[in-house]
Amino acid sequence: MIIAPSVLNANFLNLEADIKATEKGGANWIHLDIMDGNFVPNISFGPGIVQQIRKCTKLPLDCHLMIENPELHVEAFAKAGVQYITVHAEATKHLDRLLHQIKELGCKAGVSINPATPLESITEVLDLADLVLIMSVNPGFGGQSLIPYCLDKVSRLRAMKPDLQIEIDGGINLKTMPQAKAAGVNVFVIGSAIFGAEDVEAETKEFGKLLL
Ligand code: DX5
Ligand code: ZN
Repeated sequence: MIIAPSVLNANFLNLEADIKATEKGGANWIHLDIMDGNFVPNISFGPGIVQQIRKCTKLPLDCHLMIENPELHVEAFAKAGVQYITVHAEATKHLDRLLHQIKELGCKAGVSINPATPLESITEVLDLADLVLIMSVNPGFGGQSLIPYCLDKVSRLRAMKPDLQIEIDGGINLKTMPQAKAAGVNVFVIGSAIFGAEDVEAETKEFGKLLL
């Protein structure tokens, strides 16, 4: 089981402190939500910030590209030092080629689908992908509520692929995490529920207790 705090809603005026606090609280990965204002209606940060984040943690960096034309940018994120690069099936015409491109860069290749996108859109690449990220909110912003039908998608995927890294992203809190775990999730992206807490380290530990 993996806890992957998303820094999207962290305190960017004191980002290193927030990252170190969640690391001390037992976080396993750091999730980086990259947004371009085109694929999603929000803009977040790019490879330059990722390079800075790389310097302040030893945890694996789990890079979620919510951008158009991801093939043009994967190399920059690989060079910035991330371990996972996840792209949206909806954002590329050549998903098989893109997943190979990510692997050739030395990163693990993930594929993500939005809530309304059927699982069938990625079944052909399930043996190629190292990870599948099931969006449980419409991407673009932290602090939204989990969309329940996305858990059904997780269960169907887990039944197809018992050993796959299945990640969920959006609306994960102390109440919804057990539901996601029961559905078959093993990687949990948590944003506002951790970085919106008074004590980031303590809140991260609370999530860890739910996975014991
Ligand atoms: C896209 C982002 C968010 C974020 C998680 O919207 O991917 O889902 O990581 O945000 P919370 O945990 O606050 O829903
Ligand atoms: Zn994400």
